[in-house]
Amino acid sequence: MAVRTVAVVGAGKIGEVLLSGLVKAGWPVDRLIATARRPERAEQLRTRYGIRVLDNAAAVEAADVVAIAVKPQDAGVLMAELGPQIPAGKLVVSLCAGLPTAFFTKWLNDAVPIVRVMTNTPALVDEAMTAISAGPHAVAEHLAVVEELFTPLGRTIRVPESQQDAVTALSGSGPAYFYYLVEAMTDAGILLGLPRQVAHDLIVQTAIGSAIMLRDSGEHPVKLREAVTSPAGTTISAIRELENHAVRAALLAALEAARDRAREIADQAA
Ligand SMILES: NC(=O)c1ccc[n+]([C@@H]2O[C@H](COP(=O)([O-])OP(=O)(O)OC[C@H]3O[C@@H](n4cnc5c(N)ncnc54)[C@H](OP(=O)(O)O)[C@@H]3O)[C@@H](O)[C@H]2O)c1
Repeated sequence: MAVRTVAVVGAGKIGEVLLSGLVKAGWPVDRLIATARRPERAEQLRTRYGIRVLDNAAAVEAADVVAIAVKPQDAGVLMAELGPQIPAGKLVVSLCAGLPTAFFTKWLNDAVPIVRVMTNTPALVDEAMTAISAGPHAVAEHLAVVEELFTPLGRTIRVPESQQDAVTALSGSGPAYFYYLVEAMTDAGILLGLPRQVAHDLIVQTAIGSAIMLRDSGEHPVKLREAVTSPAGTTISAIRELENHAVRAALLAALEAARDRAREIADQAA
């Protein structure tokens, strides 16, 4: 599928991240369109990126790829308005967390391909993890188009749509778990007598270094952890406490809760 123009319908936070990633990656601005509900938001997007901001119907008409970036609770109203206007030659991409592609097909004409995407906030620094799933009528060429759109924001992976609620729980909400850990470890540093800023700097750089080693060394996390866990040393004393407090079990339960909530949100929107 040759893509000339992409319309981001409902260009709020995540829609803007996509647009700015495409602009940074060199997409010609005359091939990018946004839509917004408020005139001041429309003006902001025009000024920031020099792109066209049109009404929803005109955006859909002018684009080959229609990326839906509204909140899940706004998606029904939007699709009732726009869905029937989208012809089969266009590609619909949903960025809406939790909503299955079946939610959209209720309003779409037969044979309109739809792809579901779940990205995460590190897209703001071009380090997103974006999971892409083919919905009805979407084939390899459609997935390739979506990969092209999201690669400037970080890594992409293809998963079956049945795994998207798990993806939402793991990498969609994932940044929050790491921030929570950093917050808790900063408190621990303060407990041990370090000034807050020193504790923060120590743990943030440790998180960055560990993340890069996880990504680049090709080693299993167990191996990397073993390398800092010497016999009768300090690390194993800390690990024993993590095990005593069932931190691993807490993570398993936490992610199950996030997955279940993703399902509930989808049920409420349906
Ligand atoms: N933020 C993230 O990190 C993130 C990550 C992954 C996935 N997502 C998904 O991305 C979607 C958007 O999230 P967000 O955080 O970007 O929300 P957001 O900032 O509220 O953006 C949604 C935008 O859509 C606009 N809008 C709503 N209805 C519209 C309509 N009928 N026509 C035109 N524009 C309309 C809203 O206008 P107003 O400004 O007037 O409300 C708002 O600007 C959600 O489904 C979310 O699940 C978000």
